[in-house]
Amino acid sequence: MITRAAAWSVLTEFTRSDSLRKHARAVEAAMRAYAARYGEDPEVWGVAGMLHDFDYEVHPRAPHHPVKGAEILLARGVPGPIVHAILAHADYAGVPRRSRLDRALYACDELSGFVHACALVRPGRMIAGLEPASVRKKLKDKGFARTVNRDDVYRGAEELGVDLDAHIAFVVSALTRTSPSSSRPSPTLPPSSASPGPDDAARRHFPAGIGATGALAVVPAGWRGRGAPSETRGSGG
Ligand SMILES: [Fe+2]
Repeated sequence: MITRAAAWSVLTEFTRSDSLRKHARAVEAAMRAYAARYGEDPEVWGVAGMLHDFDYEVHPRAPHHPVKGAEILLARGVPGPIVHAILAHADYAGVPRRSRLDRALYACDELSGFVHACALVRPGRMIAGLEPASVRKKLKDKGFARTVNRDDVYRGAEELGVDLDAHIAFVVSALTRTSPSSSRPSPTLPPSSASPGPDDAARRHFPAGIGATGALAVVPAGWRGRGAPSETRGSGG
């Protein structure tokens, strides 16, 4: 089993973007919370969350991300089930989601990004107190965080077998619990409880800025959601 410290080392070796690193930590936090709920190993699930996009900067096009990244992870000794979940979080990789780990990662990835986007337009840009109804409303607003694939969000909850409102509340809670005041950021390894702060928008999942209308308007070039900036992406993924 790869340790969290080793996973962080791999992530930071391949990912310079602070926003992407923090997105990794956000998904890690959601995955750890779900692992606890399901009686699974939070270390395993947390590592899957932390590493799911680790190769995005070096492999920005599908299907290189995450297929080539998976080869690197296997060579680094990352356990097969984690690598499988990472492959399966991209629909275009053609790897079926079989385990609960696979389905949880898929469910947490896009929603974590969307929740963060919702928080960015709240007073104080706070995730705490974000209501599922508010998130649902924004999911229906096609102009809001428009690069987030709504079908992925809905499909993720459905595949995991959780009510969407409950899933949203669960992810919001997981990210809220990781309050900055409880963390002691380290230059090398953030605490597992660390949460994304107001400016910690992972560029793949979160717009980089907020437009004058309040709509999240700026997105990274080529971003199409779910780590598939290329035209070769399939649905979701
Ligand atoms: Fe992601």
